[in-house]
Amino acid sequence: MPEVIRHIAAMRTRLAQVRHLEMLKTAPSRSRLGNSLKASGIGFVPTMGALHAGHGALMDAARSECDVVVASVFVNPTQFNNKEDYERYGRNLDADVAFCGIHGVNVVFAPEVEEMYPANRDVFVEIPGVSEGLCGAFRPGHFRGVATVVTKLFNIVQPDIAYFGEKDAQQLAVIRRLVAGLNMPITIVGVPTVRDSDGLALSSRNERLTREDRQRAPLLYRALEAARREIENGVTDAGRIRARGLEVLAQEPSIRVEYFEVVDAESMQPVTRVAGRVCIAAAIWLDGVRLIDNVVSS
Ligand code: PAF
Repeated sequence: MPEVIRHIAAMRTRLAQVRHLEMLKTAPSRSRLGNSLKASGIGFVPTMGALHAGHGALMDAARSECDVVVASVFVNPTQFNNKEDYERYGRNLDADVAFCGIHGVNVVFAPEVEEMYPANRDVFVEIPGVSEGLCGAFRPGHFRGVATVVTKLFNIVQPDIAYFGEKDAQQLAVIRRLVAGLNMPITIVGVPTVRDSDGLALSSRNERLTREDRQRAPLLYRALEAARREIENGVTDAGRIRARGLEVLAQEPSIRVEYFEVVDAESMQPVTRVAGRVCIAAAIWLDGVRLIDNVVSS
């Protein structure tokens, strides 16, 4: 397959401080990313674009630990179970490439759908257990799509270290299982959630909130923190911890709770008693916008 490397001429003036930013639309050959860069350590940040400070934190972490940083920008159709959600997902490649440059990314891989999913070559990666509850229960096929695209991206980029946000706790657990289960020689690093000053976790979906809903949205984090405080105060009954979080969310009738669960932090399976490291994870809807967040308690 021919290699297409497009330098982003229009970006040059804006990115004067970035000397080696490149963008690839097709999978690079091994000699390009593999041989020449592998020796110095490739850090990889997979994204779907619509980049914000949360992604910036992933890129900054990669920049500080790796010699070469690769980011992908690809809105992955197989992880959307709602066509309209896929179509509405924010796309602004120029802005994303500029953002990557500012955060020290060396190569942006921004393939077309046909590059990642050639016709008649369907292969999917399924990860049972860890994919099944929480978001997996409400978004059928979502983690199959994530695991499949991340496997493809890992095979193309061949990173030494890959960076994922802790905000998507279940996704992080799925990726850790993927790498362990398929013996991939890649270190997975979870990067702490970046929050606005009122506690709302940064997400591309926050842009879609109305002004009123943006004011309501931080209640999600407050509910998770209230539940975590129960654990800190010695409560081990997951039902009671959950009830405390739901009580906080009930203060705002326009919030529809999709789930609010206490799960084992590694397996993502629900617990009835807190005995080790747990993740309190929730998904809510605010007028057609779905928000997820979590906190971990050890
Ligand atoms: O977290 C995301 O943005 C996506 O799920 C990922 C990991 C880039 C796969 O498409």
